[in-house]
Amino acid sequence: MDYPFLRACRRKETDYTPVWIMRQAGRYLEEYREVQKKADFMTVCKTPDLTVEVTLQPIRILGVDAAILFSDILTPVETMGLKLQFIKGKGPVLEPPVKSMQAVDRLGIPDPEDDLGFVLESIRILRKELEGKVPLIGFCGAPFTLACYMIEGETSKDYSGAKRLMFQAPHIFSALMEKITETVSIYADAQIKAGAQAIQFFDTWAGLLSRADYRKYALPYIKKAISYVKKQNKGVPVIYYVNGSSTILDLVKSAGSSVIGLDWRHDLDTAWEALGHNVAVQGNLDPCTLFLPQDQLKKRVKDILKRAGGRPGHIFNLGHGILPPTPRENAIALVEMVHQLSRKK
Ligand code: CP3
Repeated sequence: MDYPFLRACRRKETDYTPVWIMRQAGRYLEEYREVQKKADFMTVCKTPDLTVEVTLQPIRILGVDAAILFSDILTPVETMGLKLQFIKGKGPVLEPPVKSMQAVDRLGIPDPEDDLGFVLESIRILRKELEGKVPLIGFCGAPFTLACYMIEGETSKDYSGAKRLMFQAPHIFSALMEKITETVSIYADAQIKAGAQAIQFFDTWAGLLSRADYRKYALPYIKKAISYVKKQNKGVPVIYYVNGSSTILDLVKSAGSSVIGLDWRHDLDTAWEALGHNVAVQGNLDPCTLFLPQDQLKKRVKDILKRAGGRPGHIFNLGHGILPPTPRENAIALVEMVHQLSRKK
C-alpha cells in the first residue's frame, strides 16, 4: 500500500503531512503503564504479544501515520555478550563496560534469527495487524551511540569515558565500532526481511563530537551500515536521526540516508536548504512545547509546517523523544493539528 509516511520518505506528494512521534509508546500513556504493572521493560521487549500490544497503543490512541517497533537500541547489545539492566531512576546499565581489546574480542556478533527471534516474530505479527492501516518502522542504534553506552556502561552527560578511550586507544575503539557496525547492519537487514517497511538509525550522542572527530570516529561506520542496508533492500527508506547535528549537518547527509531526522535546535527551512531538497527531512518540534497550552502549541506546529513549505518529503515529528510527563491530550492534539493544518484536499 502507498502509505503517506512511505510516500513522504520518497519525497512524493501526499494529501497531508504524515506524523509520528519518537518514543511514541511509553510512560506518558496510562495504557503503557498498565502493561508495565504486569511485566518490566525488558520482558515487554522480549514477549511478542506484549511488544505488539504496546506498539499498537499509539496507533489507536494518537492516530499517527507510522508504527515504530517497541524495543530498545540496546536490545542487540545484550546478545553481543553484555548484561543489560534498566534501573529505575538511572536508566540502562551494561556490564561489564568495554574498556580493553580483550573485552572487544569477547563480544559476539548476534545471529538475528537465533538471538533476536523475538523481535523478528513481533515484526511479523505487527505487519499482519497493521496491514492497510499504517506502515511499520524498525530501528537500531547507530554505531557511535551504541559504543558510548558499551564503553561507559551507563548513561552519562558527556560520555567523557567513551571519548577518552576513543582518543587514547583508537585501535580498541575502532575494533569495537567494527563489531557494532556488523551487528546493526545485519540486525537492520533482518528487521526489514521480517517486514519492517523503513529503518531508523538513532544517533543520540554523535552531536558530542567535533566535525573532525565525527568524520573520523562515527561517520565511516554509520555510512557502512546504511550502505549495507540500502544495498540489501532497494527502495526501503533509511532514516538517520542525529541529536545535536547543527554543526555536522553536511557530514550527516554524507552518511547516505534517504531521510534525515532533525533535532529541534534547527530551523527546519534553513536546515533543509543546507541539506538540499534531494533528501527528505523528519522533525523537528521541541518535545517541551507539548507542555504548552494548545493554542500556543498550534503556533509552533504552524511554524514548522510553514518552514517545510508544503514541499514533498517532510515527515512531521518531534526533535527528540516525547517526555514521560507529557499530557496525552496534547500528543493527541498534535497529531490532529498536523493533519488538519497540512491537508491539501
Ligand atoms: O519510539 C518508540 O516508541 C519505540 C521504543 C523505543 C524505546 N527506546 C523504548 C524505551 C525507542 C525507539 C528507543 C530508542 C532509544 N533507547 C534511544 C534513542 C532515542 C533517544 O531517545 O535518543 C536511546 C538513547 C535509548 C536508551 C535508553 N532506553 C535510555 C537512555 C533509557 C532510559 C531513559 C528512559 O527514557 O527511561 C531507555 C529505556 C526505555 N526505552 C524506555 C522505553 C519506553 C523506558 C523504560 C520503561 O518504560 O520502564
